[in-house]
Amino acid sequence: LQLTGKQRQFIDLLQQQQTVASLRSLCAQAGFDFNFINGFLLSGALNGYVQWQEHSQQTWALTARGEDLAGVLPGSLLADRLLAGQCDRAQLQAELGPAFSLNYGALRREQAVDLIDGNGEGTVAVLKSSVLGAYQQRQGVFEAIAAGKVLDASAASSLEWLQQQGYIASRVETDYSLTVLPALQTLDLGDVVTTLTSELILSGQWRQADLKPYDIHAEVPNVAYGRPTILTQCIQRIRDIFLNMGFDEMSGYMVESAFWNFDALFTPQDHPAREVQDTFYLANPQTLPLPDDPALVQRVKQVHEANYGGHWTEAEASRAILRAHTTTSTARRLHQLQGKDGKYFSIDRVFRNETVDRTHLAEFHQIEGVVVGELLSVRTLMGYLTYFYERLGFKDLKFKPTYNPYTEPSLEVFAYHPPSDRYIEVGNSGLFRQEMLAPLGCGEKATVAWGLGLERIAMLLYDVEKLSDLIGPDIRL
Ligand code: PHE
Repeated sequence: LQLTGKQRQFIDLLQQQQTVASLRSLCAQAGFDFNFINGFLLSGALNGYVQWQEHSQQTWALTARGEDLAGVLPGSLLADRLLAGQCDRAQLQAELGPAFSLNYGALRREQAVDLIDGNGEGTVAVLKSSVLGAYQQRQGVFEAIAAGKVLDASAASSLEWLQQQGYIASRVETDYSLTVLPALQTLDLGDVVTTLTSELILSGQWRQADLKPYDIHAEVPNVAYGRPTILTQCIQRIRDIFLNMGFDEMSGYMVESAFWNFDALFTPQDHPAREVQDTFYLANPQTLPLPDDPALVQRVKQVHEANYGGHWTEAEASRAILRAHTTTSTARRLHQLQGKDGKYFSIDRVFRNETVDRTHLAEFHQIEGVVVGELLSVRTLMGYLTYFYERLGFKDLKFKPTYNPYTEPSLEVFAYHPPSDRYIEVGNSGLFRQEMLAPLGCGEKATVAWGLGLERIAMLLYDVEKLSDLIGPDIRL
């Protein structure tokens, strides 16, 4: 038998009995939940150990109206006194007070009494003493129900009357009587094994052992469970903002070819950003295949050669790196779109070979965004960024011209940070150049795009001073 603690306790209890007249009252007395034990019985786990017989029984309970009577039926106080031979009206009124007319009214309704005012001495005359007797019985039954006592057949007529008056209501309750069979009396439950040790397993003893099952009804201590880290919360918030602005989420690859990270972005092959001091080059794989679109590679090559003095090699473009920005995802997406309009964002991890300090890590997240369409301008770009940062609570932005190989104009974004009374750099953005768009097949389109620092935003929003409080194995927030 695989038993929970409660089930064991119940069996212990049964072993001390031969018969149980009412499982319900046994449960009530011993503090077991009847429904739980009922389920245990019906599961068949005790078949062969216990015989049981179901019998439903009608039980009674006071209705709200019955509860209102506070234990005394109208009529019974007066009935008691009349049966005891007391019939002087003035005296009865003095004793019963305001209850007199209530009691008199009740008995009068059954035409059991009358008032006689003959020679000035008021008298309550008994017309039907059988009704008065019935009142005494009804009162007794009423009290028994209130106390939850079991009633016998003699209560039938009182029950009927009490129900008609609306003082009590019946319900049907299933109950069981049990006969405990000798098999249970002699059943040795043995010790419960609460810890499965390697010894039990190796010796094979676990096969015989009574392993304690999980008790899914057991009360467990309240634990403060996990919640998303600040960075994850930030990502969720930013994702919601862009989704609400009608953007679709895009993704890319952490391991990329230099082609998508640099060449497709019109970054010359001798650009300082491509040096190992800035970019992580992989030893394995050392190279990645160029895009499966030779015409694209050809167009990129031509643009580089025409603008950057004739030197461009596929070998350099094939080098495998950890992506240094998520504009790789944007470039891939533009190539997919082939001039179709769209709005895309990503929140993804990037890698740069930087010296790690309080505010710099070699890996961080960028919030990338790109809009492809007609008539997009610097104003459009500033509009999107202003709207986005406002949603995060940064109301005051400044834009400063900067340089990127692939955008013109290019704007750095600064957000005002009231606690430190400074403008803090939060992103970089621009309008993609024709030299980049045309080879990707989007030459007819205007695009605005940005790459924003997620950790910078999180630090400002949550007032964190060290990046190590935000990321890594030692988050102390
Ligand atoms: N890729 C740039 C960076 O990493 C950000 C950027 C994205 C700028 C798109 C302009 C357009 O800083």
